[in-house]
Amino acid sequence: MNTTPTNPVTEIVVELGARRYRILIGAGLLGQPQHWLDAIGGRHLLVVSDENVAPLYAKKLSTGFAGREFSQLILPPGETHKTLDSAATIFDALAEMSASRDATIIALGGGVIGDLAGFAAACWMRGIAFVQMPTTLLAMVDSSVGGKTGVNLAQGKNLVGAFHQPRAVVMDTDTLATLPPRELVAGFAEVVKYGALGDADFFAWLEDNTQALLAREASALTHAIATSCRHKAAIVARDETEQGERALLNFGHTFAHALETASGYGTLLHGEAVAIGMVLAAQLSTQLGRASVADAERLAAVLARFGLPTAIPAGLDADVLIALMQLDKKNLSGRLRLILWRGIGQAEIVPDVDEAAIRDVLTTD
Ligand code: NAD
Ligand code: GLY
Repeated sequence: MNTTPTNPVTEIVVELGARRYRILIGAGLLGQPQHWLDAIGGRHLLVVSDENVAPLYAKKLSTGFAGREFSQLILPPGETHKTLDSAATIFDALAEMSASRDATIIALGGGVIGDLAGFAAACWMRGIAFVQMPTTLLAMVDSSVGGKTGVNLAQGKNLVGAFHQPRAVVMDTDTLATLPPRELVAGFAEVVKYGALGDADFFAWLEDNTQALLAREASALTHAIATSCRHKAAIVARDETEQGERALLNFGHTFAHALETASGYGTLLHGEAVAIGMVLAAQLSTQLGRASVADAERLAAVLARFGLPTAIPAGLDADVLIALMQLDKKNLSGRLRLILWRGIGQAEIVPDVDEAAIRDVLTTD
């Protein structure tokens, strides 16, 4: 057991009725198993990671498993690999190690690895334990929390998946030091989302602290991650399977998923697509008379200050995007159901949005 002094750890609990799990946020946590080893039961452990993350962090993590039987599966990185084929590769690895129902999968990586490994955990023997160890900002503030798992199809993002909650979420903020700048910036889109959808004070704090966050200042990053996780944990606790309020977390996402699919997975990063999608949702809200132009401009301005794109890339056709939006999971009875807003901090679910208005904001020339 590691007995070296540790940095402060922020703990947030996700309460789900009789179930609960901890989100731990701290520098150096991967090498401090005393904080999280209790969440990893069973004889078989499978660490799923990718070719960028494993060489940096898998060894640090494995020191905590001394005396335990564990295997590693290292997948190619990126959105193009969030597929049923990759899930099948994880099933093969589980079969190879004769993993039983008490096995645990550890997802070490960004949202792609977290979504994939979580999906495999949801399916293997109808559900085994998994622990999220996110190493991107986007995965820390969003994808590792809340139990949405899944894979993409050629026809659309995240169309196959399951709700399956992790046993714990362990965020070692030291891992953000090696994150490529474009990936760090993409993560800020999901951070801005929490301010935009429900917390005007946090939105203003982000406007004031953009430079500190881009410079990866530890205290600013920890505050942004913890605030985002508190918002997500609270919403998931009230609406685990998205019967209502949880859909607000998809502010900008119906547009984003269509943009990602239409441009080819991995061309626009998920966070970049979310940034554009939130601007489109705000513009549509203005056009429908629900919100002011000034708030839409303020949103676009803060996203641009983080270095995020705010306009649809050239060459994407409005009809293609609308066709992709028709396949969104939030739609009901064939009607386009979008998350729009009344202004900063006031997102709302709007059923049956007029297609002509959507076409207007999607038409770039
Ligand atoms: P990602 O997993 O592709 O990671 C981004 C890149 O950074 C990859 O190349 C990865 O290898 C590399 N990387 C990861 N950590 C690193 C580190 N510490 N140092 C150096 N390189 C590192 O992308 P992402 O942005 O983390 O996740 C995007 C995915 O998350 C999308 O598929 C999206 O749909 C999904 N998502 C899911 C949810 C959910 O609720 N389940 C929410 C938001 C997003
Ligand atoms: N990322 C949206 C959600 O978890 O519901």
